[in-house]
Amino acid sequence: MASAPYDDRDGWIWMDGEYRPWRDCNAHVLTHALHYGGAVFEGQRAYNGKIFKLKEHTERLFKSAELLGYEIPYTQDQINDACMELLEKNKLVDAYCRPIVWRGSEMMGVSAQNNTIHAAIAVWEWPSYFSPEARMKGLRLDISKWRRPAADTAPVHAKASGLYMICTMSKHAAEAKGYDDALMYDYRGQVAEATGANIFFVKDGDLHTPTPDCFLNGITRQTVIELAKKRQIKVIERAIMPEELEGFEQAFLTGSAAEVTPLSEIGPYRFEVGEITKTLMLDYDALVKGEA
Ligand SMILES: Cc1ncc(COP(=O)(O)O)c(C=O)c1O
Repeated sequence: MASAPYDDRDGWIWMDGEYRPWRDCNAHVLTHALHYGGAVFEGQRAYNGKIFKLKEHTERLFKSAELLGYEIPYTQDQINDACMELLEKNKLVDAYCRPIVWRGSEMMGVSAQNNTIHAAIAVWEWPSYFSPEARMKGLRLDISKWRRPAADTAPVHAKASGLYMICTMSKHAAEAKGYDDALMYDYRGQVAEATGANIFFVKDGDLHTPTPDCFLNGITRQTVIELAKKRQIKVIERAIMPEELEGFEQAFLTGSAAEVTPLSEIGPYRFEVGEITKTLMLDYDALVKGEA
């Protein structure tokens, strides 16, 4: 059954500095960000009442805004406090938390120099994308026709709403063919990432992952690299070409929403859900739940 629409739920949302009833948190149709894609956002998970790497997510939110050329009219501490208070106010301990910042409505052309910058934070229950059984079987990825743009084509290191247009198109095309998600190459034709998560491969006991020079260097990606190093697993960040996919034994995704999720297929290539993937899944799980 479909869950309740996101604009019609009980609870509280933090918006422009105050807590408001969920259903009252509207933006006008003539909001610049809606027309020109100028919102930046974060996606972070709370485990046992604590948001994992909250500080890092908020720092990225501010960096994303700066890359798009605007300043968030709050401090990072204010955003962090609001995220934590909001969890309590909504009586959630395990939840997804979505801060978003956007340009308002004062100017409606491409230029929006004087538009008010708005901010909101919502939290909701969002269990793992897939059941533990489905996850352990591994997800199936299609290969997208859309490519991650070059760093001089778009603000590729910002978590900006406009950059997700090709992600949604890629994911919809994959789902239409019965896949779970899509792998995107970059503008050079190198392996880049999935539509909302980074990607890793295992070969001969080592981890290989694309260098994040034109996509997000995910906070989960960085965490998993640290976890692998603690296990003495060698991590190689490099350009990965599509023809190498055939030679990898294991593959998995990383992301705050996706966590560590094994892959079983990418297009014609097959992968096993092997020991290194399972170990990193468990290590990540223990770390975010504060059990490590
Ligand atoms: C396109 C994209 N790449 C990578 C990631 C992984 O980033 P993180 O691990 O910081 O959540 C995400 C998720 O935020 C994403 O949307």
